[in-house]
Amino acid sequence: MMQGIVTSRDKSLAGPAHKLPMTIRQRLPKACLTRFDAAPEFLVRAPGRVNLIGEHTDYNDGFVLPMAIDRAVWIALRPRADKLVVVHSLDFGETVEFALDDLQKSRGWAEYLKGVAWGLQVAGCRLTGWEGVMTGDVPIGAGLSSSAAVEMAAARAFAAVSGFEWDAARMARIGQTAENEWVGVRSGIMDQMVSAAAVAGHALFLDARTLSFRHVPMPPDVAVVVLDTSTRRGLVASAYNERRAQCEAAARAFGVKALRDVDWNMLQAGRSGLEEVVFRRARHVVTENQRVLDATAAMRSRDAARMGELFNESHASLRDDFEVTNDALNWIVEIAQAQPGCYGARMTGAGFGGAAVALVKTGNVEAFAQAVETAYRLKSGLEAKIYVCRASAGASVVPLQGQGSIGAQHTSAQDERGFQFPPDNLER
Ligand code: GLA
Repeated sequence: MMQGIVTSRDKSLAGPAHKLPMTIRQRLPKACLTRFDAAPEFLVRAPGRVNLIGEHTDYNDGFVLPMAIDRAVWIALRPRADKLVVVHSLDFGETVEFALDDLQKSRGWAEYLKGVAWGLQVAGCRLTGWEGVMTGDVPIGAGLSSSAAVEMAAARAFAAVSGFEWDAARMARIGQTAENEWVGVRSGIMDQMVSAAAVAGHALFLDARTLSFRHVPMPPDVAVVVLDTSTRRGLVASAYNERRAQCEAAARAFGVKALRDVDWNMLQAGRSGLEEVVFRRARHVVTENQRVLDATAAMRSRDAARMGELFNESHASLRDDFEVTNDALNWIVEIAQAQPGCYGARMTGAGFGGAAVALVKTGNVEAFAQAVETAYRLKSGLEAKIYVCRASAGASVVPLQGQGSIGAQHTSAQDERGFQFPPDNLER
């Protein structure tokens, strides 16, 4: 197995694909027992995501097509009789404690948990305290939404101990509020929504205005490959918030609620009244929304080649009009696009560093990964991390001691989600 390439089939790392989470499933309850001297009652899991297409469209009330990945945040926990939450992070080697009736802002990983507790209470939920151990394998800062995974795992944990129902859209909104108002990033709803509502084997087509969504099956024989450039930029939050403000300025200039309401003709007609940079921001959003609709249609007709073309166009638009790529992202995308079997590639997530996503013919994946890794090292002097991702299920309460998913009938369509969804959302 090549260095830096992590596939779900890599036995040396995690065992065969369907067993990937088992090591965490077994390890985490034990860690909880050791730390708190009592067995956990719940094990919750919430995945990270890779956005296939629809970048910087969600906060413009537009369309997105993300996919939950087989990398997640997990918490093994048990309720407490008081209002305290005590969480030990295996990854940070740190324990944080906070009181639900006296939440104070601070810094660090626990803010995502606190923010969710705060958001749930503002929304009127009566919360029970809990103690637990947390871990995860979503790379941090790579644009794979480790923070949304923590938020949705926290929401699952609070729902489990406090006994309220899991409503994916409501929980996603609360996660977004935590991110916007507690952590201070004005992010959209995409990451939380896909982490809360995804179905295995499917991407999630989401209308970020209405929150209506469809589970669209992944095309056969196509691998989704994440290419982490290993570059991270500071101040992503301020650059992100600045883009958002520019989009809002453009919407105001067009006299509409959000750029979702602007089409190509309106865009051209309004061009002269807009600052050049604001016009380009708007052009990205207007064209990207159309690309999401086109890519979803292509996915439904199993047309990976068309999806790939749209990926490439999306990247160019993010590079030239929205200006959220860096050299490393542009290099890795160009290298990926030039490989045999690659349908298309683009940056994914907020940008400014982090990862790209490529659609690759299954049979070409190993050679693709090796070629990209080598060429990227030569070009940038950096080591890429390459993840071949499977479309996984959204946040769930995972069976402990072999019983079925808590609070749900287990069907193949529901997988581990642990809640019902309108069946007509699921496409086959
Ligand atoms: C981040 C945000 C999302 C979305 C993307 C860009 O991941 O959390 O809401 O705006 O950036 O598409």
